[in-house]
Amino acid sequence: MEQAALILIKPDGLKKSLTGNILTRLSETKLEIVAAKMARVSRQLAEEHYKHLKDKPFFPEIIRYIQGELHNRHKVLALIYWGEDAIAKCRELAGATNPEEAEPTSIRGSYGRITTAGVYENVIHVSSNIEEAEREIKLWFQPGEVIVNLYPTKEVVKKEVKAKEWT
Ligand code: PPS
Repeated sequence: MEQAALILIKPDGLKKSLTGNILTRLSETKLEIVAAKMARVSRQLAEEHYKHLKDKPFFPEIIRYIQGELHNRHKVLALIYWGEDAIAKCRELAGATNPEEAEPTSIRGSYGRITTAGVYENVIHVSSNIEEAEREIKLWFQPGEVIVNLYPTKEVVKKEVKAKEWT
């Protein structure tokens, strides 16, 4: 079944110059990239993305982590991979969430670590299932930023929206 998966290359992945390696690894899936952008991560976006973890002791630290506070890289590379079994294929290459349990040759097994504070710095995020992928993609991307129609959309007329244009 064709699916979409949200991938985030997290601030540690960017700081360690792993973008090329990670994209090369993910290209083994033969999936299509249907959206990509560098994104600043507001506190609101971070908290919404990880809202199911609000009660975990590590919640405040993962918010600081994804916002780039721990690596002085205040951005992430957000991508949508699309195609047959996209979620399982991307998760397989990413490896287990806990970098110490991940296959040593997987992305997280190769490049991840656990901080002394007990937070997984696992360089990438991959959606865990179809429902989560839809929720996350709608959080990170607008329909016009995705080159396939993943989910139903509606047309709205927006008046007096302040936007930047090239001069
Ligand atoms: S659950 O409820 O544990 O199954 O949650 P999950 O969807 O796997 O996501 C957990 C995310 O929190 C990050 N994280 C940690 N999880 C567990 N224990 C510790 N110590 C921890 N530190 C950080 C973990 O990396 C998951 O985020 P993503 O972005 O998906 O990697």
